[in-house]
Amino acid sequence: MFEFTKDQIFIITGASSGIGEGVSLLLNELGATVVAIARRMDKLEEIKASSAHPENFFCERKDLSVDCGTLDAYVRSLKAKYGKFRGLVYCAGIPAVISLQAITPEMAEETFNINYFAPLFMAKGFADRRVNTGKGSAMVFISSIAAECCGKGMSLYSGSKAALKASARVIAKEIAPNGVRVNSILPADIETPMTAEEYMQRRKPLYPMGFGSVSDVANFVAFLLSDKAKWISGQSYIMDCAALL
Ligand SMILES: NC(=O)c1ccc[n+]([C@@H]2O[C@H](COP(=O)([O-])OP(=O)(O)OC[C@H]3O[C@@H](n4cnc5c(N)ncnc54)[C@H](OP(=O)(O)O)[C@@H]3O)[C@@H](O)[C@H]2O)c1
Repeated sequence: MFEFTKDQIFIITGASSGIGEGVSLLLNELGATVVAIARRMDKLEEIKASSAHPENFFCERKDLSVDCGTLDAYVRSLKAKYGKFRGLVYCAGIPAVISLQAITPEMAEETFNINYFAPLFMAKGFADRRVNTGKGSAMVFISSIAAECCGKGMSLYSGSKAALKASARVIAKEIAPNGVRVNSILPADIETPMTAEEYMQRRKPLYPMGFGSVSDVANFVAFLLSDKAKWISGQSYIMDCAALL
């Protein structure tokens, strides 16, 4: 495995549940300092209490879908509070399963705010040379396999996740000269609070090796953030088990 040190500080969004929770706990267990962001502070505090090193686990309450265009300044304010960041892992997101005829401008805005504009502006903040630790620092975005293949009703969700994947590649190119790496992960179905039981029952026959788990994704994120991945940037990885593609 790989290790981090407590002076290596990571921002994790969506840290109150599912993949973001798993990533926060794993990075903290591996020795890093974690700044965990979500709206539900009570959940964040519970997760901090269960972490391996609570003294290196910090909680920040923030609704990332409000004023997305100011999130670069928000990231800079976090740097002023905690110091320069080694990494950003953007896990926050919402599902949207709705047919084309039922889509409203409000739904489109809500989905794209949290799934696309928020990570874009957080990346802008993180990419600021005054905010990251330079060579060796990295960003990981949790997109979705829906960016590549999807069923009916997924136009909003798939569009937001495909946009995130595409922008991550461009950002990787723009900031490569600073030594900062950027990758995205496109998971298939992972068992988390986002995936409703009835939906997973229907999907079960597609997965002869079972669904993915939070730890499957968290381990891959930790690898992509580590120096073992120092020659990997601008890539997007489908995480699947011979099920969906
Ligand atoms: N589970 C899957 O099968 C799967 C597959 C592919 C991709 N993904 C993607 O993986 C990511 C994590 O999914 P998950 O399954 O772990 O979902 P989850 O358990 O529902 O967690 C979603 C997280 O996003 C946060 N969040 C949502 N809206 C927010 C807002 N407005 N401001 C700040 N935080 C917000 C939630 O925190 P609060 O509610 O506390 O704010 C929560 O921590 C998502 O981007 C999802 O699209 C999931």
